[in-house]
Amino acid sequence: MRVVLVGFGVVGQSFARILLSRAADLYTQHGIKPRIVACVDQGGSAISPAGLDLQRLLKAKKKGSVGFYESDARQDPLQVIENVDAEVVIECTPTNLTTGEPGTSHIIAAMRKGRHVITVNKGPLALSFPSLIELANYNGVMFRFSGTVGGGTPILEFAKRCLKGDSIISFQGILNGTTNYILSKMEEGLSYESALQDAKEKGYAEANPALDIDGYDAAAKLVIMANWIMGMKVTMKNVDRTGISAVKASDVKKALQRGNAIKLIASCDSKHLQVRPTEVSKKDPICVNGTLNAVTFSSEHSGHQTIIGRGAGGIETASAVLRDLIEIRDTVFER
Ligand code: HSE
Repeated sequence: MRVVLVGFGVVGQSFARILLSRAADLYTQHGIKPRIVACVDQGGSAISPAGLDLQRLLKAKKKGSVGFYESDARQDPLQVIENVDAEVVIECTPTNLTTGEPGTSHIIAAMRKGRHVITVNKGPLALSFPSLIELANYNGVMFRFSGTVGGGTPILEFAKRCLKGDSIISFQGILNGTTNYILSKMEEGLSYESALQDAKEKGYAEANPALDIDGYDAAAKLVIMANWIMGMKVTMKNVDRTGISAVKASDVKKALQRGNAIKLIASCDSKHLQVRPTEVSKKDPICVNGTLNAVTFSSEHSGHQTIIGRGAGGIETASAVLRDLIEIRDTVFER
């Protein structure tokens, strides 16, 4: 299976590392032998129809760009998508929740070219979910984005597949690892500023951490879930959003005295989408700490179900990319 990797940041590199360490069992257990035939980042491209040497690719990136893989490597992402033959394009460029770019253009180009698309980029989905789904259907390609919500935790798949046949009435939970980490650390007595610094250093935060702090990241994930799980047609504009910057240490302390915690809760009840700091009982299963995410789905027949797991991190998110790739392989290609 030939794969073009667009963007080679934390998630892209983690994905390459997973392929390196799991090559043998991916083939024996899943019949899948992914070949990265091209990788492109802001500094250049690396292309090999036989499959790139991933160790060498990671070494090139350490020098600054995958463009160091070979001497003549100047194709930009759109040229690579256009010119390199592949079955799947994986889009891993950073999230931009204002324009959705460059991810949206990459995804559109790949779909028009008849490629199946996997993305971990929340921008294109948060801003243009309905039209991207329509484009994928029109071009007869699969479009998967498990890593956009919950990092490695299969929140989207849980709701979409495990609750098949039931009707989800509402859901609410913690969708942003960085703010949850900060609020948890504030509960332990750390200041807001040092907790944020810590989250940045640990690689949980977005390239622009305001996206986490001001609730945009959680809102984007809420939009993706509302579209995919609830069948709503909504974008970022439909979310009533408040971030955590006004949460004070004294608020956290007072909540704690009441046996509660302040969490950035995202909720959807099929009409309203909301992200806001909310006092939650410590006994509530969604009251998880650190970078964990947790979502409770309320469904018509099976009641409340909560899924909890790591919501951020390169290797976790890369594992979601791999799940999507295996699903495409299983659905589209004969084993
Ligand atoms: N910055 C995001 C978070 C990364 O903290 O949840 C995962 O989407």
